[in-house]
Parts: sequence; C-alpha cells; structure tokens
Amino acid sequence: MSKRKLKVSAIKNGTVIDHIPANYLFKVISILGLDKIPNQITFGNNLESHKLIHKAIIKVSDKFFEDKEINKIALIAPAAKLNIIRDYEVVEKKVVNVLEEVIGIVKCFNPMCITNNEQITTKFTVVSKKEIALKCHYCEKITSEEHLTII
Ligand code: CTP
Ligand code: ZN
Repeated sequence: MSKRKLKVSAIKNGTVIDHIPANYLFKVISILGLDKIPNQITFGNNLESHKLIHKAIIKVSDKFFEDKEINKIALIAPAAKLNIIRDYEVVEKKVVNVLEEVIGIVKCFNPMCITNNEQITTKFTVVSKKEIALKCHYCEKITSEEHLTII
C-alpha cells in the first residue's frame, strides 16, 4: 500500500493519537473516556508500524486534550504521539509524560490492600518513571511495571 494512502481517513480538526500499542487501544479509549463523549471518533487497530510491530491510532474530531488528561495514557502508551490538527494540517506534535500521581487507572499489586477489598479508587505516587514503580497511597506497597494491571 502506498505510504500516502491513509488507512484511517484524515480529520479536519481535532487530535490524532498515534503509536498506541495495539493491545491497549481499548484501554486508552476507556482511560480518556472517549466512550462517553459525543465527538466523532475513528480508530484503526493492528496497523503496521516501524516502531511497534502493531500499533493503534485514534482520531478524535473537535477535541483538544489538556496535558493532564492526555498524560494519563503514558503508563500504558509511553510512545504515543499526539498530532493536533487544524483545518486538515498538523499544527503541533506532542509526546506524553508520566504524571506524578496516578488515580484510578492501575490496580494495587497487594491483594491485602483495602482498594482490592472495598470500593475504593486506587491512588499512587509515581516513585520511578523509567521503569514504572507506583507507591500505593493506602498500603504503601510498590507496584512495579511487571505487575502493572490496568483497571
Ligand atoms: N492526520 C489526520 N488528519 C489530518 C492530518 C494528519 O488524521 N488532516 C494523521 C495522519 O494520518 C498521521 C498523523 O495525523 O497518522 C500525523 O500526520 P503527519 O505528521 O502528516 O504524518 P507523519 O509524517 O507520518 O507523522 P509521524 O511520522 O510523526 O507519525
Ligand atoms: Zn495498595
């Protein structure tokens, strides 16, 4: 297929989130609450990519995310690239950054933790960003990248 041929149609205005690991497409949709907004959304999954073997892409029309909002996906899609589109042109490219605090996205690794036994939203402090390590606000145990489970 020619490089110029888009697999997912171009959008007029909005945000294109590119380079999402394919297996996380629906998690990203859920973390950003894209299933709850009225905007026009198109996406492609399991597309070929050089950087990731398979990637996903999401295009959200007329939506310009705040950094705080979009950075929530950095935990699962650290290589994600944002393209801000205005009048069909890419006017800005952004990368995502891991936040200082993670609320309600990740499960605490400790089975004894109150968040795993009662209806309590998880809350962590990020103690390491390179190899993700999250310290639970409730039980103080560290959930590391290898044990990371997205709720
Ligand atoms: N895009 C879009 N609608 C537009 C313009 C661009 O959906 N009106 C999408 C493209 O399909 C692409 C992304 O936005 O997935 C970035 O566009 P562009 O910078 O033109 O592509 P590349 O040069 O391939 O960018 P990169 O190498 O950063 O992925
Ligand atoms: Zn805990």
